[in-house]
Amino acid sequence: MDLSNGINLVSIPGPTVLPDRVRAALAEPMPDIYAGELIEMSNRVVDRLPALARTDSKALIMLGNGHAAWQMSVSNLLLPGDKILVLESGRFAVGWGGYFAASGAEIEMVPGDERSAVDPTAVEEYLRRPESQDIKAILVVQTDTASSVRNDLPAVRTAIDAAGHDALLLVDCIASIGCEPYEMDDWGIDLTIGASQKGLMCPPGVALVWVGPRAIEAYERVKATDRRVAYFDWEKRLNPSVFYETYAGTPPVAHIRALNAALDLIDEEGGLEAVWNRHRVMGEAVRAAVDVWSTPGGLEFNITNPEHRSNAVTTVRTGSINSRRLQKICKRQAGVVIGIGLSMDSDNSFRIGHMGHIHPASILGTLGTIEAALRAMDAPIGGSGVAAAAAVIGEGLAE
Ligand SMILES: Cc1ncc(COP(=O)(O)O)c(C=O)c1O
Repeated sequence: MDLSNGINLVSIPGPTVLPDRVRAALAEPMPDIYAGELIEMSNRVVDRLPALARTDSKALIMLGNGHAAWQMSVSNLLLPGDKILVLESGRFAVGWGGYFAASGAEIEMVPGDERSAVDPTAVEEYLRRPESQDIKAILVVQTDTASSVRNDLPAVRTAIDAAGHDALLLVDCIASIGCEPYEMDDWGIDLTIGASQKGLMCPPGVALVWVGPRAIEAYERVKATDRRVAYFDWEKRLNPSVFYETYAGTPPVAHIRALNAALDLIDEEGGLEAVWNRHRVMGEAVRAAVDVWSTPGGLEFNITNPEHRSNAVTTVRTGSINSRRLQKICKRQAGVVIGIGLSMDSDNSFRIGHMGHIHPASILGTLGTIEAALRAMDAPIGGSGVAAAAAVIGEGLAE
C-alpha cells in the first residue's frame, strides 16, 4: 500500500534538510552587490567562520562544491613531483588524492579499508621511514561519508609529531563540520575543507576553506612559480582590496544569506557545543536502533569499532536483505529517502544521514520508517530498534 502522502523526509547524508529560515533567506530578492547590506553581511559571515573550525585562521568562501575546494588546495599547495600521503579510510581521502595526482603529485598511501578508521600507529611507522622524509602534505577526512567512519584526528596529529615529521596536515571536514567536535588549532591542522550542504544546513554550491599559517607558508612556494591558477589563487581571496576579490567575481548572494541564517541558528541553539551534543544524541539513537536490528547474516554496522562510528552518518550493511528494495519501500510507499551505499555493494548497504537540521521527530521518523519497511519485507531483525532509539533520546531529553 502507498502511505507516502505527507511531508517527505530526506535522510541522506547531504544535501540535508533546509531550515525554514535558510529557505526564506534563499528566496530574498537580489541586492546591490557593490555597496551596503550584502557586503556587510558577507564580512560578518567571513568573520564568524573561524569559530566554526575553532581556529584563529581566516576562512574563504568559494563558489563550488567540495571537489572545487579540493582543487583549490591542490592549486595553492602543490608543486609537481611533491609527495603527498593519503590516509585511506573509505572513499573520499583517496578521491582527494586523485586531484593532487592529476596535477603532478606523487601519491603515497597508508592503506586502509572501508570498515575501519585510519590507524595512527601505521601513520607513525610510515612517516618514520627515511623515504618518507620529503612528504609535503598528509590528506585525511574527519568523517568518510561512504563508510561512516570518524577518524581520530588528535591521534593522527600525535602520530605525526611522534615521527618528528613536518608535513602539512590537511583535513576534509565536509561531512563533519557542524556535527562533530573539531579543533583546527588545538589539533595542529594546517588546512580545513568544508562545504555548505551537510551539517551547515545550506544548499550545495559553496565550499569553505580555512587556511592555517603553515599552509600560507607552503603557498608562498607555489606563488613564486607560474603554476598559480588565477581563479583559485589565495592571494587576493585572503586579502581582498575590493569586495569582489573575496569571491573572485560576483558573490554567491543567496548562499551568503543562507550561511548567515544557518550561523544564527547555531548561535541560538547555544553554540557549537550544543549542536555537537544534539548530533551525539541523535547519532547514539541511530546506533542503538541498528544495534538492535542487527542479526547474524542480516543487518550490521559497516564500521566495526564502535568508537569510530560517526555522529553524522551511519552506514549499514544488509547481508541477505536487499537494500535497494528497502530504499524503494521507504521512498515510494512511506515518504522517507535514505542514502544508497557508496563504494561498497549498493544492493547490500544503505546509509542514514543524521546531520544538520535534525531532531528527535525526524530521527525517530526515519528509524521507524526503516523498521516498518524491514517488517514489510519480512526481513530478520533482532527486535525494535525504534524502542531502543527512543530510550536513548529519552535519556538525552532528561540530561
Ligand atoms: C567527506 C566528503 N568529501 C568530499 C565530498 C565531495 O563534496 P562535493 O560532492 O560537494 O563535491 C563529499 C561529498 O559528499 C564528502 O562527503
